Amino acid sequence: AKYVFVDQDTCIACGSCGACAPEIFDYNDEGLAYVILDENQGIEEVPEELYDDLEDAAEGCPTESIKVRTAPLSAGKEKEP
Ligand code: F3S
Repeated sequence: AKYVFVDQDTCIACGSCGACAPEIFDYNDEGLAYVILDENQGIEEVPEELYDDLEDAAEGCPTESIKVRTAPLSAGKEKEP
């Protein structure tokens, strides 16, 4: 299983991830990316059919702000402890 969240502290709102994976990423009012699936909490499994898009987005992010994990984060936490 895969889970994903965006580290908005390092995201520079470049807009690449939403282009690569529009079903996973959208942008907030400041243009920072977040994960649509679970409001960027990293707790909802990414559907397998989106794995290719997810990989493209993660590899294409210039600041490595897209954090892909194999286990869900603790609920409500945007970052790992
Ligand atoms: Fe931000 Fe990286 Fe997406 S900089 S807008 S998370 S590609």
